[in-house]
Amino acid sequence: MAHTVTFHPQQLSLSVPDGQSILQAALQQGFYFPWGCDAGTCRVCSGRLLAGTLQLRHQDTTITAGSPLADAVLCCLAYPLTDITLEVPRVQAPGQFPVQTVSAQITTVQQVNDDVKIVQFRLPAGKKIRYSAGQYCDLLIDADTSASFSIASAPREDRILELHIRANPDSTSYPVLAPRLVPGELIRMRLGMGDVTPHALNGADKILLLAGSTGFSQIKALIEYLLQVGDPRPLHLYWGGRQSADLYLHDWVEQQAAQHSNLHYVPVISDQTDWNGRKGFVHKAVLEDLQDFSGWKVVGGGSPGMVYAALDDFVAAGMKPEQMISDVFAYAPR
Ligand code: FES
Repeated sequence: MAHTVTFHPQQLSLSVPDGQSILQAALQQGFYFPWGCDAGTCRVCSGRLLAGTLQLRHQDTTITAGSPLADAVLCCLAYPLTDITLEVPRVQAPGQFPVQTVSAQITTVQQVNDDVKIVQFRLPAGKKIRYSAGQYCDLLIDADTSASFSIASAPREDRILELHIRANPDSTSYPVLAPRLVPGELIRMRLGMGDVTPHALNGADKILLLAGSTGFSQIKALIEYLLQVGDPRPLHLYWGGRQSADLYLHDWVEQQAAQHSNLHYVPVISDQTDWNGRKGFVHKAVLEDLQDFSGWKVVGGGSPGMVYAALDDFVAAGMKPEQMISDVFAYAPR
């Protein structure tokens, strides 16, 4: 169960699940929100309740719009009991807050198949760095070279950020980046970009996550986030690759699916004769299983070819184009 908070005058809406404060929900969904202590002492997160009812943590206090307490509600302590409208200056939704550039240090590098490395970075301490699950970053490798990667982890308290980096000797950036992918290396990073965030999934009853190879990285961050906040909606992941080794975190996904009954996982392999599971193109496997797209939101993570093939075939099968979101639509428009 969740309630909707509408921020005035920005007209932004935030879904706050039961058990989360308004501040927690806003931060986890990648909003910029003024805050300091998350404990009810600094008062930086104060807002004015314009409509609805909420409850304050640690106090048996219920506040309704129009009551004297409604003028200064501390959002880190506030739990909506109904849909509410709140005035909080400076709140910004994911994609609206400023892009930040930081130096991040590589902590681990793990080669997970012939081509892909999972690289973890630690973001600097003492700085509030805001990004949302599903967003991407640019590695600023040197003065002339940068490369974009989906962030493969939801925002974490320990400031670890994960990328899945595929070796691509044909690109101009990878040969410059590859020798620097070692623990201890400091790399400049620009982050907080992209509109494919949990916020973009508001209003959907069911979520279809379609991933091709390392397109899974963005999908992983969304899965981590949605499971972490206890989002009860069905999540159906279809992850496709040519060989089973392309599904380099297959065991991790199976483990998550075993622990969360709303996560359903279908691995699909196109080019391996001894694979006993689903075969062929990943989006065709979706079409074999799904005849009615109503209530679904689809996230496409993968190459432009894969994402547009899926879009075209899903639309032909009855999906509305606005039901699908993907970074591909922004960086490779057609
Ligand atoms: S963040 Fe300090 S009072 Fe809410």
